Amino acid sequence: MKILITGGAGFIASHLVDALISCGHKVSIVDDLSSGDMVNVNKLANFYKINILDLDQLKTIFEIEKPDLISHHAAQTSVRISEENPLNDASINVVGTLNILNLCLYYNISKIIFASTCAVYSEPCYLPMDEDHPVDPKSIYGLSKLTAENYIRHFSKTSDLKHTIFRYGNVFGPRQNPLGEAGVVSIFTGQMLKGVQPIIFGDGNKTRDYIYIEDIVQANLNVLEDIGNNQTFNLGSGKETSDFEIFSSVRDHVGVNIEPNFANIRKGEARRVCLNIEKANKILKWSPQRSLNKGVLEVVKSFKK
Ligand SMILES: NC(=O)c1ccc[n+]([C@@H]2O[C@H](COP(=O)([O-])OP(=O)(O)OC[C@H]3O[C@@H](n4cnc5c(N)ncnc54)[C@H](O)[C@@H]3O)[C@@H](O)[C@H]2O)c1
Repeated sequence: MKILITGGAGFIASHLVDALISCGHKVSIVDDLSSGDMVNVNKLANFYKINILDLDQLKTIFEIEKPDLISHHAAQTSVRISEENPLNDASINVVGTLNILNLCLYYNISKIIFASTCAVYSEPCYLPMDEDHPVDPKSIYGLSKLTAENYIRHFSKTSDLKHTIFRYGNVFGPRQNPLGEAGVVSIFTGQMLKGVQPIIFGDGNKTRDYIYIEDIVQANLNVLEDIGNNQTFNLGSGKETSDFEIFSSVRDHVGVNIEPNFANIRKGEARRVCLNIEKANKILKWSPQRSLNKGVLEVVKSFKK
């Protein structure tokens, strides 16, 4: 299959590119390298340094590559930046997605897979949150991803374009940027290895649903064929992990004696997240294989390398 991946120089999609190439697919990547890095880019993929807001250049790539399927991972991913600059966030996450959708229709692409987020949900009305849980994002980032989801559903409903939307929990693994503000496993690991005291925003009891990168890649592979069409799936561990538990797990694996600093909770952050993953389990025959502790160990090992 010919697959075009946006954001393929970034953390999640670069792992997906590697897996797709190993499975024998022909992969092309569109990425403007705003947060991605060429070191992540598989040499067997066709790489194009292009901003998804540049419709003309994007069209040329669709023309050259003639993909069968689009995996759309490029995004403005920072909650903080989304709060500071909603226009920039909406440009990339909403207008950028519309550019991709327009080209999907123009070139009769059969399917789009979209990387969305559990940040589309409101503060939990119940836990674990299933896909029917009310959506009312706390952050501008969550709002733009939800808007992109809605455009995808609308385009899909009114054309032959099929879609699968994934709402990822907190994905972690090697290659995640330790200098960013999300990706707490990488951030804590990087800081502890340098002897820097990590900051926990809030009192340490805030929870997230952590899912290892390999499991996310597997779910993406499972929906390449006609499985999970026109549906939305949570992808997480189905478990709630507090900030302090993550801190402790990283500390144990790094092997240091360090305590966290605490700071005020940041704007746009939910208090608790835990995803119900039964739908992905039933329809995609998918379940997470890597425990939190084993995943953290892999991250620490990759840093030490
Ligand atoms: N990491 C997580 O825990 C998580 C959780 C939920 C959803 N997601 C979603 O998964 C996707 C990938 O996230 P990630 O963690 O790998 O982030 P990342 O920042 O590592 O990857 C995003 C990639 O998109 C590229 N990009 C950004 N703006 C672009 C533009 N205008 N044109 C072309 N390329 C552009 C960046 O250079 C980068 O390579 C995003 O859509 C994100 O919203 C991630």
